Amino acid sequence: EQKDKSDLLRAHELSQTLFHYILKNTAHGKIALEYLNNRGFSLKLMNQFQIGYAPSMRNTLTEFLHKRDFLLPLMEQGGLLSKAGQQQYVDRFRDRIIFPITNARGKVIAFAGRALGDGQPKYLNSPETILFNKSKTLYNFYQAKTEIRRTGRIVLFEGYADVIKAWSAGVLNGVATMGTAVTGEHATTLKRYADQIILCFDGDEAGQTAAIKNLSILEKMKFQVYVAMLPDQMDPDEYITAHGSDRFKKEIVDNAVTATKYKMLYLRKEFRLNDANERLRYIRSTLKIIAELESPTEREHYLKEITNDFDYSFESLKQEMFEIRQEAE
Ligand code: CTP
Ligand code: MN
Ligand code: MN
Ligand code: MN
Ligand code: MN
Repeated sequence: EQKDKSDLLRAHELSQTLFHYILKNTAHGKIALEYLNNRGFSLKLMNQFQIGYAPSMRNTLTEFLHKRDFLLPLMEQGGLLSKAGQQQYVDRFRDRIIFPITNARGKVIAFAGRALGDGQPKYLNSPETILFNKSKTLYNFYQAKTEIRRTGRIVLFEGYADVIKAWSAGVLNGVATMGTAVTGEHATTLKRYADQIILCFDGDEAGQTAAIKNLSILEKMKFQVYVAMLPDQMDPDEYITAHGSDRFKKEIVDNAVTATKYKMLYLRKEFRLNDANERLRYIRSTLKIIAELESPTEREHYLKEITNDFDYSFESLKQEMFEIRQEAE
């Protein structure tokens, strides 16, 4: 087991070096390099994140590992190769951009492979292995740790490209999950480094819903949670490409709203607010969110926001919220 682990770690390290070399220095990598250039990934970024390319041939990595005496069944269990029949192995990643995924100590434990065009699936990731546990792993955590500790703040993105592009914009405390929800294990790790977290998810429906879903676990773990809002149909990567680093930092990250404010805004989409009845139902749902807050000053803060946004008196809003709190007891 221990030997298997160290062999697989070594194999991942060598594979990463190979993929990175193929991308930058060979004819096979030319189209991938153009693809990355077109998406605004500089050579410096490719080096920083050790981005690579797995060529379309069936057994580039298989032969490479075989020549170095790695046991191919182990390499298959480790997610580097796929089975192609009895005792037959082929490369798992073919014709894909490779994003190496490291553990908290900076060792490569898995890869994410992105199709160059509209190929499906868009991302092919390593399976769970003795090295790689998705519910524990955070992309870029190793590199972001220093800045997370320094600022006391984490920026959580949905995707690898968002983390990388944000890094180039000067946001050095960005991490991402493996395309899954935040787990208790993720939250526990992060909590050792910072108390504030900004969710910076895609502006589409899926991203905004994912933000709502991730709020509860982070609030339970006593993070101060903020949510950054992007224009509909844009993700952070696209926003930075379209509007630049300064606007991303000033208008998106610095304007992140509190979790409570975000829930209130998100709820608005479910009601037609110019209809008096629906507006009252919206107010009631919002008061339920506010009623759950522990701190009286926080509750007052958000009650005042509704007072300002809608034409109801502070007193009646407070009274109704008070009744909701009593019912909940
Ligand atoms: N994801 C995945 N498998 C897919 C699609 C998505 O694992 N087939 C995960 C990836 O971690 C991806 C994240 O979900 O980074 C967010 O998905 P999406 O927003 O669709 O991808 P982007 O990160 O925007 O990827 P790109 O910019 O390369 O299109
Ligand atoms: Mn051979
Ligand atoms: Mn998305
Ligand atoms: Mn996206
Ligand atoms: Mn994207």
